[in-house]
Amino acid sequence: MGQEIKKIETTYNTVAKEYAETFFQEHDKKPMDREILKRFTRDIGSKTPVWDFGCGPGQTTKYLTDLGMDICGMDLSPKVLEQAKKLYPDIHFQTGNMLKLTFENNAIAGVVAFYAIVHFTKEQVDAAFGEIFRVLQPGGIFLFTYHIGDDTIHIDEFLDKKVDVDFMYFNTDFIENTLTKNEFNIIETIEREPYPGVEVETRRAYVFAQKPLVR
Ligand SMILES: C[S@@+](CC[C@H](N)C(=O)[O-])C[C@H]1O[C@@H](n2cnc3c(N)ncnc32)[C@H](O)[C@@H]1O
Repeated sequence: MGQEIKKIETTYNTVAKEYAETFFQEHDKKPMDREILKRFTRDIGSKTPVWDFGCGPGQTTKYLTDLGMDICGMDLSPKVLEQAKKLYPDIHFQTGNMLKLTFENNAIAGVVAFYAIVHFTKEQVDAAFGEIFRVLQPGGIFLFTYHIGDDTIHIDEFLDKKVDVDFMYFNTDFIENTLTKNEFNIIETIEREPYPGVEVETRRAYVFAQKPLVR
């Protein structure tokens, strides 16, 4: 069973402005994010295209653009993308659904997805990984993050707005097994403690995975 996609979209439409105001400069306060994104830039090199899936207001898309990457952003929520386009008018953003991508097979050199799977059930994570694998070029890199744990939390208030959505934590065994099931090679999983006073105090993970060059 999956979480209703409409509920996720409605949630981010509702908090779009507040989410953008809260998170648009978050990488300034998160040294590990910056190191990881620099590494992603080095790994991708000059390959294109690169997409930020579940890009939200585009803070990661912008950070990577400033590092010289040619990258576009995609998100479910049109209202969140209005914020992204307003903040970063020179970057291309479009709506889309990670569970049903409209890209051709083997089309994309790199995908970054920071906290984009946090509203997915385990079945939906599996489906998203399958879709991302399908659209990546052989050798393509997939970098994503999640909150570590086993819980599912129902949220009815987010950034002082009324919402109705579930928020999922994942353990790294599940994530790595699901990547392997979808034929990804895991390059590295990096876990860290939260930055106190900077973010919600959950343990975080960054994963670098790759579609094999030869299958
Ligand atoms: C927690 S926010 C993360 C946003 C941004 N990447 C960040 O790090 O702040 C989750 C984002 O994923 C988007 N999202 C959720 N499900 C999605 C889906 N199926 N397809 C595309 N985007 C999705 C939401 O609209 C939201 O903007």
